[in-house]
Amino acid sequence: MSDEPVVGRAPGKIILFGEHAVVYGEPAIGLALSKNASATLKPGRGQVRLRLDEGINVAVSENAATPKDLVAAVLKPDLANLDVELALEFPPMSGFGSSAAIAVALIRAQDQLNGVPPRTFAVAFERALGVETVAHAKPSGVDPAICLKGGLVRFVRAGLRPQVSRLKMKLPAHLVVASAGGHGGTRQSVTRLADMKATTPKLVEQAMQTLGETARVGGQALLSGDFPTAGLAMDLANGVLSGFGLVAPAVEQGLAICRGAGALGAKMSGAGGDGGAFCALFDGVRRARRAVNLLNEAGYMAWMEPLAESSGPTSDIEPSA
Ligand code: MEV
Repeated sequence: MSDEPVVGRAPGKIILFGEHAVVYGEPAIGLALSKNASATLKPGRGQVRLRLDEGINVAVSENAATPKDLVAAVLKPDLANLDVELALEFPPMSGFGSSAAIAVALIRAQDQLNGVPPRTFAVAFERALGVETVAHAKPSGVDPAICLKGGLVRFVRAGLRPQVSRLKMKLPAHLVVASAGGHGGTRQSVTRLADMKATTPKLVEQAMQTLGETARVGGQALLSGDFPTAGLAMDLANGVLSGFGLVAPAVEQGLAICRGAGALGAKMSGAGGDGGAFCALFDGVRRARRAVNLLNEAGYMAWMEPLAESSGPTSDIEPSA
């Protein structure tokens, strides 16, 4: 084991289509963010610190895994002899996949520390999914899959061998990404939907199928450059998710700001609930920039993510850091 500090990094994610429905076998489409989680390990006595980028301020939810839980799940029994500094460039507990990104960053740092050679996607996924169960009730695996694969990703749940593919867009577009505070816990919202499904199975199943169809149609439209259709699919998905009580009023107001600035479609993203992440699709960079400015002026944390073929790594073999 090296005495030098080692650093592992991994990106957050934003889901464009298919959150919640992906738990029930429908496809999801998401993008790895340009913003990262990092984990620095150095010899020490088991101290864990979390550093958030300036301007990030999220209330801690009792329903979310703490960074300490994630660190313990990855590093036990090595933790007693290490100090760990986690840093996030995006808000935690908001729908940006902070648990998966922290887990993957920790695994990459630990592999570096132990001189473990690069893992294949399948091996890295299995390990990260094991850690993520600390954070979610029954994670579909979509968060670690996007984080490990990078770029624009299509994901279908299938146990430890899910179908995961990188998508290539014909034309570039712009995604405005924002958050309205913490979402209140993925475990909570996934469990609530499971309870609704137990009470009204057919209704919830058909809603999930509709969400799956927005991913199929919206995903295809994104790839072919038919952005108005992709935007329509986003709006429709948001309507269904709103019916489940997953779109908080502050998120709805943020979506209205985006639509007012010329978004082709906009929706909540991730687990949803009390607040959390949302995104909006634009075909023009100026309108997207205007939406980012309006959102930031209104107190949201907003930025732009390019939607293009070339973002992120291209290999299935994961670098160890
Ligand atoms: C969370 O990013 C996405 C959910 O569908 C949960 C999961 O798939 O594990 C809400």
